[in-house]
Amino acid sequence: MALLSYSLPSILLIVATSLHATNAVEYVVSNTVPNTEGGAIFRDKLGQDYARQTMASASEFIWQTLRQPNEADRKPIARVTLVVENFEGIAYTINSSEIHVSANSYIRNIKGDIKTDFNGVLYHEMTHVWQWDGKRQGHAPNVTEGVADFVRLRANYAPPTWPPRGSGQFWHEGYAVTAYFLDYCEGLKNGFVADLNMKMKDGYNDSFFMELLGKPVDQLWSEYKARYGN
Ligand SMILES: *[C@@H]1O[C@H](CO)[C@@H](O)[C@H](O)[C@H]1NC(C)=O
Ligand SMILES: *[C@@H]1O[C@H](CO)[C@@H](O)[C@H](O)[C@H]1NC(C)=O
Ligand SMILES: *[C@@H]1O[C@H](CO)[C@@H](O)[C@H](O)[C@H]1NC(C)=O
Repeated sequence: MALLSYSLPSILLIVATSLHATNAVEYVVSNTVPNTEGGAIFRDKLGQDYARQTMASASEFIWQTLRQPNEADRKPIARVTLVVENFEGIAYTINSSEIHVSANSYIRNIKGDIKTDFNGVLYHEMTHVWQWDGKRQGHAPNVTEGVADFVRLRANYAPPTWPPRGSGQFWHEGYAVTAYFLDYCEGLKNGFVADLNMKMKDGYNDSFFMELLGKPVDQLWSEYKARYGN
């Protein structure tokens, strides 16, 4: 009896651990400036646990939006790191899985609800972690910024500072301008952004729009601009 009561839980533990190990991504948060104004705001109003949870829920949302339900479809990333530190700017992602967020020039200056704004920035940066970069060919860099803001938009974290839907001179301006255009394209064909991202695994060509939607990207942009009255 004693043997059974000890061995059964340990077998369950081994099974649970090995199941977990197949798809667990580790999220690590490091606040390197807790004794500065912005770092203290991060510590008191957001915190490491909250940031870690947001990184995990952002990943789930991105995998769903970009239609990468299986680990095999994704970039092989086992750990994502978030570093809070002081620098000029808001946030950036390097080495595909290392996010840096500025305490002094971003967190310290957030207006409005701090969690909503922070989540929006994190969803954008987490998209850079998981999306394909089209090998940075042609307009790929600005398209990736558009996809990252498209995810932010779809997650309902578009900030009030964004230019309105329909604005912009070129579809490849990046960020919100491209995000709203991609949102229009997504309306023409459900799953368009996920397909576009998938094609960007091996490179990038503007003809992807034609291949997926049957019209050249410049025509789509003209029709989008006409629809929003400018
Ligand atoms: C990026 O990764 C490379 C290789 O792992 C490493 O040598 C480099 O220090 C990293 N860069 C930063 C800024 O962390
Ligand atoms: C890429 O985006 C930046 C920032 O929005 C913009 O200044 C630049 O002109 C864009 N490049 C192209 C080719 O549209
Ligand atoms: C992009 O695709 C078009 C149409 O398939 C092709 O003619 C063109 O050579 C491609 N451009 C690049 C840079 O690969």
